Amino acid sequence: MMKVLNTDVVIIGSGLAALYAAVRLSGKKRVVLLTKSKWQSSNSYLAQGGIAAAYDQSDDWHVQLEDALKAGRYHNNVRETSFMIKESKHTIDRLIQMGMTFDRNEDGSIALAREGGHSAARILHAGGDATGRELTKFIKSQLDQHVHIDEYTQACDLIVKDNRCAGVWAKDENGEKVAYLAQDTVIATGGCGHIYAPTTADPAVTGDGLAIAYRAGAALSDMEFVQFHPTLLIKDGKVYGLVSEAVRGEGAKLINQDGRRLLAGKHPLEDLAPRDVVTRVLFKAQKTGLASQVYLDISMIDQFSGHFPTISRLCREAGIDLSKGRIPVSPGAHFMMGGIAAGHDGATTLPGLYAIGEAACTGVHGANRIASHSLLEAITYASTMAESILTEKKSPVNGHAPAVTPAHLHLPAKEQIQRMMFGNVGIWRTKESLLRAIDWCESWGIDFNGARNLDLSKDEAERLNMLTVAWLIASSALERTESRGGHTRIDFPGEAERWRQKSIIREVNQLEHY
Ligand code: SIN
Repeated sequence: MMKVLNTDVVIIGSGLAALYAAVRLSGKKRVVLLTKSKWQSSNSYLAQGGIAAAYDQSDDWHVQLEDALKAGRYHNNVRETSFMIKESKHTIDRLIQMGMTFDRNEDGSIALAREGGHSAARILHAGGDATGRELTKFIKSQLDQHVHIDEYTQACDLIVKDNRCAGVWAKDENGEKVAYLAQDTVIATGGCGHIYAPTTADPAVTGDGLAIAYRAGAALSDMEFVQFHPTLLIKDGKVYGLVSEAVRGEGAKLINQDGRRLLAGKHPLEDLAPRDVVTRVLFKAQKTGLASQVYLDISMIDQFSGHFPTISRLCREAGIDLSKGRIPVSPGAHFMMGGIAAGHDGATTLPGLYAIGEAACTGVHGANRIASHSLLEAITYASTMAESILTEKKSPVNGHAPAVTPAHLHLPAKEQIQRMMFGNVGIWRTKESLLRAIDWCESWGIDFNGARNLDLSKDEAERLNMLTVAWLIASSALERTESRGGHTRIDFPGEAERWRQKSIIREVNQLEHY
């Protein structure tokens, strides 16, 4: 027997977008959050870099917009990108009014830092390099006590009734099935970093929201645009975490084993070029033997540990002696620009279903996200969505939980998917590597368009979702015969005019270009 719970809004996920939406809705709607792990398991919580806003009087939001469009290789939805950036100062001020504390200079003014792609110092941080943790903890502290967070509860598939999303069926911490019936269902599950290794993502970030939305019939967009961050702390093959761009914002330089600077002359912003540029330069240096090891030279930064406590801890864990002034780094998967196609208010193509945060594709990041726009996006669109939910009239949900058809699937191990994706659908892609990846995904005999209502274990469900998203990324990347932002085709170098402002849209049994 399946347990059935009725609520107004069910939010899947527990990162910044999910928590902020819950704060905005609580007291006015019955809200339940469900998350497959503990609530802190999100990329928001791990975010070191901060939140960008043209906060200084000498700065201008139009300049921030131009920086974001340039970094996004003009693939952005300009209207939404302008909206988010124009609002950003107000977004920050509202957080400060709520009681959020950002790092300040000695004179009491807000401290503003540089990060990749930005032509001015406009990144706010909290706790040095622990902005995500400080912000999510603060927003969670604002939650109404009536909001439930059901931890260790995994969303398995959406409940669709009469072409409308009517909730989600999930497995609770005991593995029991629960149907959450809701007027509005929100996917805020983040991206899909863990379908790659190495990655900066939390292990819980396996693309579940993207896969369940796709299976339910919602449109996905821009799945080929995956961002690889240039500087993961990797030692002896083990990933210890991210080394924030803010370190380069303080002057650090990328060098090879002989101390040769790798970004000099490669871009006007050199080491602070947008992420896709820096990643490609490092990857090429590694592939061609110019760099047997890439390092961040941090010797010029005073009081590194005080400034970057999280990174210093990661270095201690990796046995790196910071007094030597070098941190070993290498690129890895970081962020998904694509996702569930969502409008200004988070609405998707499936009525009753919303998507916000990294799981959504509103177009604000284009083909390559500029630094510190992910926390900003999370808050901005959690707000517009909450506003929309609060102002629309909804009829009550009286659906029944669906019958579940048992099925057994033969699925690859997570490590197999991660290795296959980094090797074939990673920083450099070719027609051959992408066809290899698609064949491999399809060799498991799963109908990605038809697999639904499956009675899988939590682990199997996660691997099905990872494989589905891997297949969606590889097949979208094959379609896009150009290189733009995070998507680099060795066989199609350079941007092609015919692909400018064109998106690849994926819907069950459909593949369209817009
Ligand atoms: C970083 O701190 O380098 C990452 C921040 C971001 O993802 O924008």
